[in-house]
Amino acid sequence: MNTPVWHPYANLKTQTPAPKVVGGDGVHFVLESGERLLDATCSWWCIIHGYSHPRLVAAIREQAGELCHVMLGGLTHNPADQLAHELVRITPDGLNHVFYSDSGSVGMEVAMKMALQYQVLTGHPGKQKMLSLMKAYHGDTTGCMAVCDPEEGMHGLFASLLPQHHFAPAPTAPFDATPPQVDHDLSALRDVLEHHHGEIAALLMEPLLQAAGGLNMTSPDYLRGARALCDEFGVLLIFDEVATGFGRTGKLFAADHADVTPDIMVLSKGLTGGYLGHAATLATDRVHDAFIGDSEHHAFMHGPTFMGNPLACRVALESLRVFEEEDYLGKIAALSRILSRELLDDGALNAHPAVADVRVLGATAVIEAHSAEALKGVGSFARERGVWLRPIGRWLYTMPAYITSESEMTQITDVMKAWFLAR
Ligand SMILES: Cc1ncc(COP(=O)(O)O)c(C=O)c1O
Repeated sequence: MNTPVWHPYANLKTQTPAPKVVGGDGVHFVLESGERLLDATCSWWCIIHGYSHPRLVAAIREQAGELCHVMLGGLTHNPADQLAHELVRITPDGLNHVFYSDSGSVGMEVAMKMALQYQVLTGHPGKQKMLSLMKAYHGDTTGCMAVCDPEEGMHGLFASLLPQHHFAPAPTAPFDATPPQVDHDLSALRDVLEHHHGEIAALLMEPLLQAAGGLNMTSPDYLRGARALCDEFGVLLIFDEVATGFGRTGKLFAADHADVTPDIMVLSKGLTGGYLGHAATLATDRVHDAFIGDSEHHAFMHGPTFMGNPLACRVALESLRVFEEEDYLGKIAALSRILSRELLDDGALNAHPAVADVRVLGATAVIEAHSAEALKGVGSFARERGVWLRPIGRWLYTMPAYITSESEMTQITDVMKAWFLAR
């Protein structure tokens, strides 16, 4: 049956009909046909507890009986207040203020507006631009498209609609890089800042793991160096932890690997365990307090209808409890060991002529092919073997749910390996 649903990122002429999902439990979702697929991507990296988690479902049901929604303009409620306290507790020291919104993209829009207004309010009205990194992906809204990689990113068609920002090269030093390797990346960043800091409000980055732009991983020293450069040049540092937040890189937040506190940090995806769309933009006292004043420019003019939605805040609170009570960081470390053992240790994948690189960080692994052509058909290949894989361009990756067992994890890595080694 034809559907009026317009699917994302799809070529309408060549797309095949989307299989219909009727349910899910644990790491599997179930299709109308009865087929059960092991989700290697945890639904665009958000369903970190898997599907139909009883505690998350119960939290939503309970909250629905009390209060499904109320505006946050001039009002508040317990789930929003409690979640804000929890987010302040778990995020890097100094991020003491929480602005809610409804998706990762909007959370980033909020971050950029906040940074620019901060600069105006603190006497730097010329700082109207962002500094972003090549290979960056920060969302699909207009403001976010303007800070995505302008060359390899997918938004080239809209170039003339978008404000022009500055870009520094993507970091090239790996996670365990030596200081000189990182210095090379930092001097490229310094170069842009030296020339343009007078017009740059904030440097924004996906810390340690540039996700949708090619799963590019870098070193904690890069984050520390970026923090120092931002301080030197009077530029705010924004960490987009939409993808990296809630354990994906092996610590609760990527910032924790470097003991760095950004001025602004954005969370979404895993925030609600993926059960409802929501986001939080956190700010330090320094940023927040600049907004205390009498002028008409002091109010922060942003307020999405569904910000602080009680159902989303309540399920986020439950998600965090499960994460902490059930030692998810331990589970992520175990998954990371399996990913390294299966994909890196024997070197066979890295030696394959179609493979450019293999990388693992936390509960993330990627096989980077030399071309997207090399991955054509991998989705169907995986599906025939009971696994849902959806590569991005030339990157075949897994970001599994953290409840994935060892045998399920190796089922995923076996399929990824077999595509290259056993066909
Ligand atoms: C790092 C990062 N930032 C922002 C976004 C946008 O989030 P959303 O799709 O919820 O708007 C994404 C989505 O994949 C992301 O990976």
